[in-house]
Amino acid sequence: MKKRILLGAGASAALHKACDLASKLAQEGHEVKCVLTPRAAELVSPQLFEALTGEPAWVDEFGKSRRHGMDHIQLSQWTQVLCIAPASADLVSRLSLGLANDLLTTVALALAPGVPRVVCPAMNEHMLSSPPIVRHLQTLRKDGWRILEPGQGHLACGIEGPGRLSEPAEIAAFLLEVLG
Ligand SMILES: Cc1cc2nc3c(=O)[nH]c(=O)nc-3n(C[C@H](O)[C@H](O)[C@H](O)COP(=O)(O)O)c2cc1C
Repeated sequence: MKKRILLGAGASAALHKACDLASKLAQEGHEVKCVLTPRAAELVSPQLFEALTGEPAWVDEFGKSRRHGMDHIQLSQWTQVLCIAPASADLVSRLSLGLANDLLTTVALALAPGVPRVVCPAMNEHMLSSPPIVRHLQTLRKDGWRILEPGQGHLACGIEGPGRLSEPAEIAAFLLEVLG
């Protein structure tokens, strides 16, 4: 059944998979809106996500970029699920601390309690096993986030190891399972 999916994306070398994921979900008939962090929007233009989904994409809610009076409220009330893929180390930390210093983290905080939320980390293996990130991922789990554990394989930093963003098909299947 058609779902309303909010896809958030952080600045990671795995951002190309977020494009594939957005495209795949849209092709499956879901309504997909995307919010990029400002850093992610430096790597890939939100325009590409708009083209792939046929929906607007957001970066921030101030100035010329805003679309509604309060985009964080409008988007948090619209979506049936929030999926953050890829989630950088910094984004995982901000979510865990409850920071709201960009549109994506503000939407995450504004979600109603029953709305499912999924985080798909992508980072270098040392970042992934660093004590702060291990701690922050544990906190997110306790706070009700579903974590799609990153896989093992080639990392953009040139090494093999854990930290690789899950494949778009796996993320899509996980999302539909979470949505029930
Ligand atoms: C090309 C490039 C790729 C990056 N890939 C990653 C990554 O996969 N994981 C990560 O945690 N940080 C990565 N970084 C560093 C983050 O982009 C940086 O920490 C940034 O502040 C994260 O911002 P955001 O999470 O708000 O998007 C990368 C940086 C660059 C320039």
